[in-house]
Amino acid sequence: MSLTPPISPWNPEPLARRVVMITGGAQGIGRGIAQAVLGAGGCVAIGDLDVDAGKACLAEWNRGGDAFFKRLDVASERSVAAFVAAAHKHFGQLHGLVNNAGPPGPHVPPLEELDFATWNARLASLHGAFLCSRHALPALREDAGAIVNIASTRAHQSEPRSEAYAAAKGGLVAFTHALALSEGPQVRVNVISPGWIATDAWRAPARRRTPKLSKADHAQHPVGRVGTPEDIAHLAVQLLAPSLSGFVTGQEFIVDGGMTRKMQYV
Ligand SMILES: NC(=O)c1ccc[n+]([C@@H]2O[C@H](COP(=O)([O-])OP(=O)(O)OC[C@H]3O[C@@H](n4cnc5c(N)ncnc54)[C@H](O)[C@@H]3O)[C@@H](O)[C@H]2O)c1
Repeated sequence: MSLTPPISPWNPEPLARRVVMITGGAQGIGRGIAQAVLGAGGCVAIGDLDVDAGKACLAEWNRGGDAFFKRLDVASERSVAAFVAAAHKHFGQLHGLVNNAGPPGPHVPPLEELDFATWNARLASLHGAFLCSRHALPALREDAGAIVNIASTRAHQSEPRSEAYAAAKGGLVAFTHALALSEGPQVRVNVISPGWIATDAWRAPARRRTPKLSKADHAQHPVGRVGTPEDIAHLAVQLLAPSLSGFVTGQEFIVDGGMTRKMQYV
């Protein structure tokens, strides 16, 4: 006879002593994920182009050696290699990578006015996920590592003049399932596609403000409100924790208040 399955309490610190690198982690969704990882008992290495914002995180969090910041440009392989090496040296181990950094705003000029260099720069979130994963994987393979990529609902639906952003985010969704197959069972790889997330309250102190959102902004969402960085961060923690998501890899999770399930006819 087998044993009675136990009723297990939820672990309040599912990332206890797990080390997670977060690109673009000094502001917005990335900062939300970093704070959730700290709240879940983990340690964070945040990399960001904005040095003032990164330093402000360390000062405001006051978590000593559990939080680490280094300037990072995910579009530069030299910068990525230096960031991953410095995070590894600081913590001695790496368990998670969140590929979150991306250029601001989805809109680009009409395609025939878009030169190749601009197109390439607008794909930085995809290129950065490749570079950061490439440099982090040797360490992530050692102890049930996890990668969480941040794409967008724009991988699936568009406004005009957003081709490069849509291509980058669609590429991230496909990159995720391909990498999950290559790296299993040592490393799990998943992707979160956020909808509209208001990030104004998660900026560096000088630029921080309460989001200005209308009733219509909120009401058009089936859940009745625009999203917050915490909405993305809670799922990121779950996907990073081997104890909660050990059977989950190669998947996309859309977190958009139900917007992509809503008929848009006027
Ligand atoms: N906010 C939304 O509504 C929304 C919706 C869907 C997807 N996303 C995606 O979520 C991610 C985060 O978006 P956000 O709204 O929090 O952005 P944000 O602009 O508020 O924060 C992004 C952070 O990344 C940093 N960054 C930008 N380029 C970088 C680079 N090359 N290297 C390192 N750091 C860099 C910025 O300095 C900033 O601190 C992006 O990939 C974005 O495409 C956002």
